[in-house]
Order: sequence, then structure tokens, then C-alpha cells
Amino acid sequence: MNSHIAIAIDGPAASGKSTLAKHLAERLGLIMVNSGAMYRSITWKALEENLDPSDDKAVTAMLGRIEIRCSSNGIMSTITIDGVDPREQLRSEGVNANVSAISAIPAVREHLIDLQRSYLEHTGVVMEGRDIGSVVFPDTPYKIYVTADESVRAKRRGDDGEVDSIAKRDAADSQRKTAPLKISEGAVILDNSEHTIESGLEAALEILKAQGLEF
Ligand code: CDP
Repeated sequence: MNSHIAIAIDGPAASGKSTLAKHLAERLGLIMVNSGAMYRSITWKALEENLDPSDDKAVTAMLGRIEIRCSSNGIMSTITIDGVDPREQLRSEGVNANVSAISAIPAVREHLIDLQRSYLEHTGVVMEGRDIGSVVFPDTPYKIYVTADESVRAKRRGDDGEVDSIAKRDAADSQRKTAPLKISEGAVILDNSEHTIESGLEAALEILKAQGLEF
């Protein structure tokens, strides 16, 4: 297997992308990159600075003065902003409510997409998000679109104890102009509604095998 490959996992909120991506990375010996955590980190920083998340100019100016570092620890991607790891704050109600607005700002996307692509200079990745197969790595043959019934997804978030309006976030993510959530060309749909973690992983491996991945 070429070790600098990219496996793209896209799909709506709480569809089980992160869990699947993590297990795939473990199984295949790749780094799991959670691109949503990158958008969430920028959102956290903008809220810390009391910026209005819909103020494109202010958020874009913030990008010019902060230092974002992406790396990995074990199989998981990591991110720091100005030396701070915001991991514990990324699933707060404030971040959940504002991340779609921040993610719709073109300068934010350009900045993060460069960082996402640069992982491949060092390693192979399983990257999950909304636009990984369509924009970040459009040429990769390995693309899965993970979905699940909305009721299953809402329950999952509730069980995690999170306040998260996933229907609202999905609508914003699908309707935005820049890099909307969509099933990218070549992606195979994996409906995760009825899968366990193990059966979902096996289904994903089957899809990747059919897409030509050797492992
Ligand atoms: O937690 P969940 O899987 O629902 O979402 P996430 O992957 O943490 O992403 C949070 C938000 O970041 C999404 O609702 C999108 O607005 C944005 N995002 C994006 O625009 N593009 C990506 N590649 C990943 C996330």
C-alpha cells in the first residue's frame, strides 16, 4: 500500500464518520485527521476573541495573526492555536452553534485546506469532513460518504450529552456556496443507521477494496 494515500470520509453531522475514520486509520496504519476539529478550533478562537462569527472580515483578519499548528499524536491528528490545544472546548454549545458560519468563510476554508493537504507530505491519512472527497482530495480513488437516518444521528448526539442542532447545521453545511456538503464524484454511500462499529468498519473496508485499495 502506498503510505501517502488519502481516504476521504464525508457525511452529515453525527453520522459516525469520526468513529469509522479512527478505526480505519487503526486498521490501515494511517493518521486519522478530523477536519471538523480544525473548523471547530478556529470557531473556538473567534469566540475567545469575542468576534462576530458572521463577520468575514474580522475572522479573516484573525487568521493573519494566529499561529495554527497541525500535527499528530499516535494515529490522531492534533491542532494547537497560538500554542494552546483547545480540544476540551471543541464540543461546547457555543462552538456547535457557530461552527457552520465560520466554516462558510472562504478564507477560513483556504487556510485549513492547505493545512489538510500538507499532511500528505509526511503520511497517509483517513480524513473526515464535508468536502474531503470533493475539494481537499478530489483525485483520490478512496471515497466514502457516510450517512445515517436523522433520528439515529440526533439520538447519538443526545446520548453524548451535547446540545447540537444537527438539522440546522446540516442545512447550513449543504446550502453554503463554498464547498457544500455533497456526495462527491466517485464516493460510495455507506448507510450507518443499522451498523455496529465493527460491521461499519467491515463495510467500509469492502468499499475501499472495491475502489482498489490493497491492504
Ligand atoms: O461533529 P460532526 O461530525 O457533526 O461535525 P464536525 O465534523 O466536527 O464538523 C463541524 C462543522 O465544521 C460542520 O458542521 C461544518 O460546518 C464544518 N466542517 C466543514 O465545513 N468542512 C469540513 N471538512 C469539516 C467540517
